[in-house]
Amino acid sequence: MKLKSIVLATSVVLASNAFAADVEVLHYWTSGGEAKSVAELKKIMQAKGFGWKDFAVAGGAGENAMTAVKARVMSGNAPTAAQIKGPSIQEWGAEGTLANIDEAAKDGKWDAILPKVVSDVMKYKGHYVAAPVNVHRVNWVWANPEVLKKAGVDGVPTTWDAFFVAADKIQKSGAIAIAHGGQPWQDATIFESVVLGVGGAQFYDKSLVKLDQASLTSPTMVKVFDTMAKIKTYIDKDAAGREWNLATAMVINGKAGFQFMGDWAKGEFTAAGKVPGKDFLCAAAPGTEKSYTFNIDSFAMFNQKAADAKKGQLALATSIMSPEFQEVFNLNKGSIPVRPDVPRGKFDACATKSMDDMAASSKAGSLEPSFAHGMAVHSATQGAITDVIAKFMNSNMSSKDAVAALAKAAKTK
Ligand code: BGC
Repeated sequence: MKLKSIVLATSVVLASNAFAADVEVLHYWTSGGEAKSVAELKKIMQAKGFGWKDFAVAGGAGENAMTAVKARVMSGNAPTAAQIKGPSIQEWGAEGTLANIDEAAKDGKWDAILPKVVSDVMKYKGHYVAAPVNVHRVNWVWANPEVLKKAGVDGVPTTWDAFFVAADKIQKSGAIAIAHGGQPWQDATIFESVVLGVGGAQFYDKSLVKLDQASLTSPTMVKVFDTMAKIKTYIDKDAAGREWNLATAMVINGKAGFQFMGDWAKGEFTAAGKVPGKDFLCAAAPGTEKSYTFNIDSFAMFNQKAADAKKGQLALATSIMSPEFQEVFNLNKGSIPVRPDVPRGKFDACATKSMDDMAASSKAGSLEPSFAHGMAVHSATQGAITDVIAKFMNSNMSSKDAVAALAKAAKTK
């Protein structure tokens, strides 16, 4: 057994040396909609003559993938690129492992095309080290209109009070009100929408971005946890450990009324041939219509040993930022292009709403980085806060105790 794994490991190393111009791409896009999306990048790279070595690590929001990246980089065998985003890019930059891709950025005029808030995240010490793929909006709620109709619910509720009235009706009709997967990152995804809906964008910014202790311990935060406690009562008993895309399938199949999830969920509806406005509804989570939590996927590039590996890496970066890829990828993924110059024509109503709402919230000062999806704070702090939210979801912890634990976790560095 042991020998077999050594032989296997050796053949992997040999294979990677044999095709040094291949690109090896580590990502966590394994659901139906996600796999279709990443296949488009593979196609483009293969058309340019590069071999594609797929390094897919299953697990929503990439926790398992991040463990895999660490293992590979530590063993001196970093992939060409890995799906890493937000402040984590700086963390990897500080380790001295990221590759400079300024050449691709200069050729593609990234500085002129990308909004500065985005290009800043893709640079380490002024040099591009990552390429952005998309913009996901996190503060969405997805709904099955048939389930709502059967229960006598008229449209997607826009306040939390109205939401709970609707959830009661759905439960009475025999369906599950909230499709959810009991995994810490999914709990945190709902939590950030509740913080945004109950407290507003400024409160969100103070508490989940600036980690302001007064906001974290405020009565508003107690109300957030009270709302979470209520949400818990509408989640079915089999939710523990469920993957997010299986929760989305419950809404698609009419088992459940709602799901709180970023718009990668739309990728699942689309892959199932469902049409927005007809087969499913997308709306801002209650109380968050005027705000927007953003989550930008990107690929960080790692220093490569093989001399000709750089060619593939630069071609990958160029392909990711090309308008053609940005369009086809985002049509499948549920997100919107990170390039503002991609035509809107082929995008559906949820995507164009995302584009409009992003622009409006940016003007209004209510465009916020997603806490749950690694856009807002250091990964260690995010992990500690997420643990508190998950503990609250899985125990009888009081809202007051949760707030105290949250404030303590926010000090983690
Ligand atoms: C990523 C998405 C991904 C989702 C589920 C998010 O954090 O940004 O690209 O589809 O997690 O894994």
